[in-house]
Amino acid sequence: MGQQMSDQRPIGVIGVGWVGLVTAGCFADLGREVIAMDVNAAKIDALERGEVPIHEPGLEGLLERNRERLRLTTEMSEVLDPARLLFCCVDTPPTYSGDADLSRVESVVSQLPESGEHALVMKSTVPAGTGRAIRRDHPSLTYVSCPEFLKEGSAVEDFLHPDRVVIGADPGDEWAADEVEAIYRPLGGELVRTDVASAEMIKLAANAFLATKISFINEIANVCEEVRADVAEVAKGMGLDERIGPQFLRPGIGYGGSCFPKDVSALKQLAGNSGYHFQLLTAVIEVNELQKRRVISKLQKHLGSLVGREIALLGLAFKPDTDDMREASSLVLAGRLQADGARVRAYDPVAEDAARPLMSGVDFSDSALRAVEGADAVVLVTEWPEFAELDWAEVASRMRGDLVIDGRNALRSELVTAAGLAYEGIGRH
Ligand code: UDX
Repeated sequence: MGQQMSDQRPIGVIGVGWVGLVTAGCFADLGREVIAMDVNAAKIDALERGEVPIHEPGLEGLLERNRERLRLTTEMSEVLDPARLLFCCVDTPPTYSGDADLSRVESVVSQLPESGEHALVMKSTVPAGTGRAIRRDHPSLTYVSCPEFLKEGSAVEDFLHPDRVVIGADPGDEWAADEVEAIYRPLGGELVRTDVASAEMIKLAANAFLATKISFINEIANVCEEVRADVAEVAKGMGLDERIGPQFLRPGIGYGGSCFPKDVSALKQLAGNSGYHFQLLTAVIEVNELQKRRVISKLQKHLGSLVGREIALLGLAFKPDTDDMREASSLVLAGRLQADGARVRAYDPVAEDAARPLMSGVDFSDSALRAVEGADAVVLVTEWPEFAELDWAEVASRMRGDLVIDGRNALRSELVTAAGLAYEGIGRH
């Protein structure tokens, strides 16, 4: 343990999901040789044919122009032989208890030789304490925590222009942390060198804080509806305070995605498992669940019973510029609408294939205008720019009813109402 490695060695990336693929592609783009492995042979085959399994702006071009430097494999040995730094990018989905499922991480660790030559660089989001536990069970293994802060839809951009890079290592493992730092240094961004447990907590705390900010503004929006204030004005006035800042103050129909729901729950469980009741996060989660359902009461307020009503959902993914359906609010919304007897049709510019297997009984359209035909109400679920540019007179002429619920406050209400439609946003009057 502790020997220096040559800069020229290839970098190993284990797991080519969202994080792994972006990480591997970007390291290659930095001029490094990368060997990326995944147990999913179909995924590796597809990537070798040049097919990128996810929708992420800039990623396809990045992988294409770095083909020479990026080797793909399903064999761990092909990574372990040449590489010493192994970036672990496997997923850590939530279990039924809300804890993170570390079985894939454990499987990776179990395959690492005890020679002490390798350093495991953890990018997967893991509970604080995971690094310490792995080090305890595998004393010869060098361990670095290097959490990712990539946003889907701008992951390549975020990777190449980070706000900060967090690198956590415990005494004895600094050599590997130095190697990681050297890889990231050309990208700029503040380098935060710390211990492993603190690095793990930074990731969880950052996501939990952002989720808290969203649930907070969602509750403010709900109060705004009661007192006839405009949440957009409120958020603007709040955000100009430097201590608050303007970002993540957009109310909507709840946060989703692969990170916030899972990480907030994992932090709550982690605290609970150590004997601490994290009250605030319990509320953040509950507010988010209720927020997804508020659209139903808005629809009922205007339409009465939803039995037999035709509801068009514009957008399905948890946010624009992605086809990721994980924890998307549309899933809860469509399920609730169907349970209340409504018929649901939907259009999303890229997420249809991902959504189909998750949304039985939903009628998929190939354009927004097709989706609204004969609809009693239209609900904007994901704020794709093309929805803000819709011809509302055309929409009105195709609909059966006249209700537009803007679940992301992404539409210009005056354009919608000018077409003779009734508009309702979130926290706006
Ligand atoms: C998030 C974190 O931002 C990123 O740092 C971390 O690495 C992974 O998790 P991501 O899941 O891609 O990234 O999505 P993000 O853009 O943060 O949005 C998450 C959800 O919050 C979306 O559903 C979005 O619609 C919602 N959101 C975001 C709001 O409802 N209001 C806001 O003001 C901001």
